[in-house]
This record gives sequence, structure tokens and C-alpha cells, in this order.
Amino acid sequence: MKKLIGLKKTKVAVFISGTGSNLKNLIKFSNKKNSPILINLIISNTKKAKGLKYATQYNIKKKVLNFNNNIDEKKILNFLIKKEINLICLAGFMKILSKNFIKKFKGKIINIHPSLLPKYKGLNTHKRVINNNENISGCSVHYVTAKLDSGKIIMQKKVKISKKDNAISLRKKILKEEHKLYPAAIKKILSNL
Ligand code: GRF
Repeated sequence: MKKLIGLKKTKVAVFISGTGSNLKNLIKFSNKKNSPILINLIISNTKKAKGLKYATQYNIKKKVLNFNNNIDEKKILNFLIKKEINLICLAGFMKILSKNFIKKFKGKIINIHPSLLPKYKGLNTHKRVINNNENISGCSVHYVTAKLDSGKIIMQKKVKISKKDNAISLRKKILKEEHKLYPAAIKKILSNL
């Protein structure tokens, strides 16, 4: 019986706003034979998000809604319920979700942030890290709460900064680690359920 439960995949929606390299990486992870997840919905707040191409490429349902009003959020909520989504992964999603939305999916929304939280919450992370002459940065996967980038941390990975690094090279270095960390963090929370 336990084995049967273990085989049931968690249905995931990924929310994006941009390039979608984390989305692509999560799709690859979900396509692995023993993956605990199934991505069956991609949501974007803008039709300009480059990552939306992966919905077509991998034949995954997508929805674009700007999240500027309660009606949009209600539509998304209904959609998530209809699709039986059990986990929301934010991956470069640039909108702040309402308290009500977060409450409805309490403990089931996670995010990846390109810093060692609680340091460097918010935007322009790499630039601020470089300007402060830090010699270490990294990435964090955390639960989403109403307070920006402040929910409980699930996993983190440190990345060394060299003297030659600038914001662009640091972003590349960290993104590479993000692609390992996000699947690992998902595995971790799902094995704890
Ligand atoms: C990543 O650095 C992620 O940590 C941050 O936004 C960026 C998204 O990159 N939240 P991508 O769209 O997944 O390539």
C-alpha cells in the first residue's frame, strides 16, 4: 500500500514571468522516470514571458493572466482546483500573490530566490551582492508567505564569488546551482509529507 502511495505523482503548476530556465529544468525533472511530480500547468502574468514556449514544446497547458485584479486571481484559483494542483512552484514570477491566494494554498507554494536568504531579499540581487564586495552568495528555495522572500527555507546552496565576477557572471553561476537545488528541494518536501 505504501508503495502505491509513493507512486502517486504530485500535480504541479509553475508560475513564470521571464526566460523560464528553471521551468525548463523542472519539466525535465518531472519527465524523469522516478520523478515525484507531474507539471500540468504553466501560468504567466505576461504573454511576453519567453518561458511560455516550453508549454508548447512539452505540450503542457498554459494560462496567461495579468494578476492585476481579484478576478484574475479567482480565475487562476478555480483553474488550479480544476487541475487538482497540489504544489505551486514560483520560478522567476514577478507578481506578489495576494494574502487570500496564499491562504488558499497554505504550505503549498514554494519559490526560488537567487541569494542566501534572509540576505538580499527582493530585486537586483546579484548587483547588490557584487556592490557589497561579498565573497559568497547562493540560492534558496523557500515556502511563500505574505511577506516577500521571508517564508521558511527548505534548502540553500552556497556559491563562491571570485574577484573577476560581475552581476552577469554571478547570475550564470548561481542559475546553474538553482537548477540542481529546485528539484532537490521538491524531493525533500515531498518525501516529508
Ligand atoms: C532566477 O534567478 C530565480 O531565482 C529568480 O528569477 C530567476 C528566474 O530565472 N526568482 P528563469 O526565468 O528561471 O531563467
